[in-house]
Amino acid sequence: MGNALHVRKRVALASLVTAVVVIVVIIALSVSLTQEKSRNAGMAEPTVSAPDHYRLPDTITPISYNVTFWPRLEPDDNDLYLFTGNCTVVFKCTRETDLILIHSIELNFTLLDGFHARLTGLNGPAPSLKKTWLEDRTEYLVVQLDGPLQVNSSYELFTEFVGELSLTQQGFYRSVYTEDGVEKVIATTQMQPTHARKAFPCFDEPALKAVFHVTLIHPQNTTALSNSLASGRTSFEPTKIMSTYLLAFVVCDFGHIKTETGSSIRVWANKKAIDKGKGNYALEKATPILAFYEKYYNISYPLKKSDQIAIPGFVFPAMENWGLITYRESTFLQDLHESFYEDKEMLVDMVSHELAHMV
Ligand SMILES: *[C@@H]1O[C@H](CO)[C@@H](O)[C@H](O)[C@H]1NC(C)=O
Ligand SMILES: *[C@@H]1O[C@H](CO)[C@@H](O)[C@H](O)[C@H]1NC(C)=O
Ligand SMILES: *[C@@H]1O[C@H](CO)[C@@H](O)[C@H](O)[C@H]1NC(C)=O
Ligand SMILES: *[C@@H]1O[C@H](CO)[C@@H](O)[C@H](O)[C@H]1NC(C)=O
Ligand SMILES: *[C@@H]1O[C@H](CO)[C@@H](O)[C@H](O)[C@H]1NC(C)=O
Ligand SMILES: *[C@@H]1O[C@H](CO)[C@@H](O)[C@H](O)[C@H]1NC(C)=O
Repeated sequence: MGNALHVRKRVALASLVTAVVVIVVIIALSVSLTQEKSRNAGMAEPTVSAPDHYRLPDTITPISYNVTFWPRLEPDDNDLYLFTGNCTVVFKCTRETDLILIHSIELNFTLLDGFHARLTGLNGPAPSLKKTWLEDRTEYLVVQLDGPLQVNSSYELFTEFVGELSLTQQGFYRSVYTEDGVEKVIATTQMQPTHARKAFPCFDEPALKAVFHVTLIHPQNTTALSNSLASGRTSFEPTKIMSTYLLAFVVCDFGHIKTETGSSIRVWANKKAIDKGKGNYALEKATPILAFYEKYYNISYPLKKSDQIAIPGFVFPAMENWGLITYRESTFLQDLHESFYEDKEMLVDMVSHELAHMV
């Protein structure tokens, strides 16, 4: 019995200790939870504008780009084919921020007063730059400001850069072919899916549409093409408001053929192929196809021209750049009389697909 009492005492003591421990733990937990809660309440918006996010924040809307490129069709002393360029993007601030994130990758920048970019205010002074850097993982040029951009105010961001016209078929690149035993180089683009940022700093998401004023500096014995018609020897009419991934430009010495039925359809390819009539079948088919779509959609083709160009070695079957559709040369160039029926059918299928992206 005495033993039993002793045991009961020990049980009671153990229970008391356990109860105290549990209470202490509960109090400690609730205190730390409260602290956590108040920390969260004190926190600003989630860090949507941090450069470690892949999607752009909703703080800035681009309006227009003035972009100049000078591709070198001859290698430099290091055997590199380079292009230089500069870009002025006009944008509007839609939500207060002191950080400008703009896509850029594989470009080397000229430092301007020690920074990767220069900012000018269009409705008043712009905040001065604090720090600029390249965030490789998320493919941004980051511009940190000393003060905030004003909501509804517009600004100009200027950059100057050098890139390589590589053989990667991404961004602004080069394609090589031989004509009469001579190796020829053309400079051309492939901006989809997210390769426009390899050609120039841009807000490279499809919803962020803008007008593009393109200037291409090129030798007189070459032709420069872009989405819109040339308005000078090197400059092009502004594009319609469009996405970065639809931008295209080519510097080459190709030949062309055309029709003038309402909108102007042209077919471009290396001169030999054009002379042999290998673009004729594509031109003959493109014309009624576009006319069909205009009737089918009840929308007239909105651009002044539709170029179809045969790119040597293009890995994609085709790309619907607005006004300058690029095609794989081997599929695109067919001989009306000698080509297989299946090859001609594939060509018509491809042209129909690309021209359907007419607006
Ligand atoms: C862009 O180029 C167009 C055409 O040359 C010109 O009218 C316009 O002022 C330029 N805009 C900027 C921001 O440089
Ligand atoms: C951009 O580059 C072209 C060609 O080098 C030059 O003519 C033009 O002045 C440059 N634009 C600006 C704003 O510096
Ligand atoms: C910005 O412009 C919009 C549309 O005009 C207007 O509704 C809004 O109040 C403006 N915001 C500021 C901060 O000026
Ligand atoms: C960019 O800079 C890096 C490092 O200096 C250099 O290796 C590379 O060749 C440059 N690229 C171009 C296109 O100038
Ligand atoms: C253009 O002319 C230059 C100089 O005469 C020459 O080196 C170059 O090969 C020519 N380019 C083309 C594409 O014919
Ligand atoms: C085509 O569009 C025009 C103008 O937008 C409109 O008046 C017409 O009714 C449309 N036709 C058809 C068949 O939808």
